[in-house]
Amino acid sequence: MDVAIVGCGFIAEAYAAALAAAPGVRLRATADLAPERAEALATAYDAVAYPSLDALLDGASAPLVVNLTIHHAHAEVTRACLKAGRHVFSEKPLALSAAEAHALVDLAAAEGLHLGAAPAASLFGDAQQLAWRYLREDRLGPVRMIYADANLGRVPEWNANPEPFLRIGPLLDGAVYPLTLLTAWLGPVVAVEAAHQARLNPDFEREGERVTIDTPDHYTAMLRFAHGVRARLTASFFVPHQTQHFNSLEFHGDKGSLYLRNAGDLAWTGDGGDLQFARLGAPYQPVALPKSGEVFSYATPIMDMAEAIAEDRPPVASGRQAAHVVEIVEAIESVAATGEPFQLETELQPTVPRAWAAAKVPGRTIGEAEGLPPVGFGCSRYRGGTTYVDLENPIMQALDSGCRLLDLAELYGTEALVGDLLQRPGSPTRKDLYLIGKVWNTNHAYDDVIAACRQSLAALGIDAFDCYMMHWPQAWAHQRPLGDLSTHSHEEAQALTFPTDEKGVILEANVPLEETWRAMEALVDRGWTRALGVSNFNEEQLARIAAMASAPPRIHQFERHPYRPNHALVEATRRHGMIPMAHSPLSADGLLQDPVLRAIAAQHDVSSAQVVLRWNVQQGIIPIPSSTNAAHIAANLSVFRFDLSRDEIQAIDDLAQDG
Ligand SMILES: NC(=O)c1ccc[n+]([C@@H]2O[C@H](COP(=O)([O-])OP(=O)(O)OC[C@H]3O[C@@H](n4cnc5c(N)ncnc54)[C@H](OP(=O)(O)O)[C@@H]3O)[C@@H](O)[C@H]2O)c1
Repeated sequence: MDVAIVGCGFIAEAYAAALAAAPGVRLRATADLAPERAEALATAYDAVAYPSLDALLDGASAPLVVNLTIHHAHAEVTRACLKAGRHVFSEKPLALSAAEAHALVDLAAAEGLHLGAAPAASLFGDAQQLAWRYLREDRLGPVRMIYADANLGRVPEWNANPEPFLRIGPLLDGAVYPLTLLTAWLGPVVAVEAAHQARLNPDFEREGERVTIDTPDHYTAMLRFAHGVRARLTASFFVPHQTQHFNSLEFHGDKGSLYLRNAGDLAWTGDGGDLQFARLGAPYQPVALPKSGEVFSYATPIMDMAEAIAEDRPPVASGRQAAHVVEIVEAIESVAATGEPFQLETELQPTVPRAWAAAKVPGRTIGEAEGLPPVGFGCSRYRGGTTYVDLENPIMQALDSGCRLLDLAELYGTEALVGDLLQRPGSPTRKDLYLIGKVWNTNHAYDDVIAACRQSLAALGIDAFDCYMMHWPQAWAHQRPLGDLSTHSHEEAQALTFPTDEKGVILEANVPLEETWRAMEALVDRGWTRALGVSNFNEEQLARIAAMASAPPRIHQFERHPYRPNHALVEATRRHGMIPMAHSPLSADGLLQDPVLRAIAAQHDVSSAQVVLRWNVQQGIIPIPSSTNAAHIAANLSVFRFDLSRDEIQAIDDLAQDG
């Protein structure tokens, strides 16, 4: 779609550059009060400059105008464009008064035109979308209080022309970011219950003279949304942007809190602070960002406008919502001036989440049909030695960091613990998780498989696994059901799960693979698992299963790390239509200290562990690391912000010690 830019100041260059790189939209025309600015932008981006807005509307055919003029000109320019039959995307604010903003929305509707407005970026942002997902999943329980901050600091320090900003104040310039997100997620504000305004630093210097602006530069307001959710909003041109509360949103619910560091920014710094979740009573845990696959720029809302026009739907960043935001600002100003609470009665269409964030598993999954998260968390208590590690906090932290795949097994003795954790306030609900279970080697006989699965489901308090696996192909002598493993000492549990004769030789059992697999398939028939899997099979065993199965395994889990990449097994797994899953991806001796991995890690500013996990993920193999360290847990799920080059993957492959 052809696009025209009106207002060719500082920000226009960023828009033009983004449009030049974006598919489906093309900058064709420019205009500005200063014709030389329009000329310069047009020349740089192969567009035509017009000497005025009227000339552009007369001469250019671009159906979509991007209004990047100065604040006080927004409404007038948008009105002229709409009257000339053009769709408009306006920089913020849509207008300086609610009446003007609503008039523009009505005019666009009457003319059958689309109207969109900034701030749009954050509506598309990955961190924002994931925050909204946590809210929709009810991880916080009913939200009762939100802290919303827009502390933008002293304007003369960040803008060469501070006066227009100081004149409209911090609400219309800064508070629009959190207000846009909050109204998109929670619906309209129904009341401004209280508000306070102040002038903390009203002067600035213009050409050597002190100039005083009357507009307050600091506001605090108490807003009420539908359903009783309240927000304390602070917007300031005084509090410096180095504050801990620069542009953050913090949601507080009955079950937990969620912190979004920058409501208005698309950048995901990856330092673990962008989005954090804390269930009640627990410290904040970084939320890992899944791979959204979205690419953002100033062109993103313009591309969405072009699509919205083609599909005749409201744009994501709609003028109607922007008008409501102006209305809220006006109400805050009124309450701050009069002390009288203000009721609002606007209706808003709910905003639709991005497809990646609304999917069963947010972000890119492995195995389209299965919707398998690309990284999981291993729930085994084993770490070698003669004791077990305690996984209560680690599993909780993994869930809080956004982990959606838990690898379980009756052997691990953690099913009852996970069952308990899933019931706790703040945990994801069953439908948002992918749960893997495994039958142990001593339970391979038909009835024992059925009993083992029944017991595991009961311990977990779930109706069905997403995938139930044979832990190993080997059958060992049956001891007794293993449901109470967690209550036994390490020694007792070992005796039950690794039965040996007096010489210490494992007691095998004569249960054919066929019998066990028939039992596994019976579990699918009973609805106790959605899919089947195998673990630790060799190529020959995989072929046997594939030949006999009427419900073939969908996942094959086996040991895989750079020292043991198991390339042939990966290939065989895929040949039989299964998804490879890498267990024990990090624990090989000396692996994480390997100089090759360390060098690659330094190159990408990540850890060796993240490189190993990325090496798997990038090749479509799901690693299921385990950890007892909160920072490691979050980092292990955050492997989507860097790509390994072909040479780096080769260098890692070259570490193989398995021939
Ligand atoms: N199917 C099977 O037969 C089978 C066999 C073995 C394992 N598994 C599955 O695979 C899962 C993982 O295997 P695993 O338990 O052998 O462990 P692993 O994930 O290979 O390694 C765990 C070790 O790595 C360390 N670690 C984790 N993340 C780290 C990081 N970012 N930086 C530095 N060190 C890190 C951990 O220490 P910290 O705790 O200090 O982070 C721990 O010592 C198991 O829980 C289980 O679900 C399956």
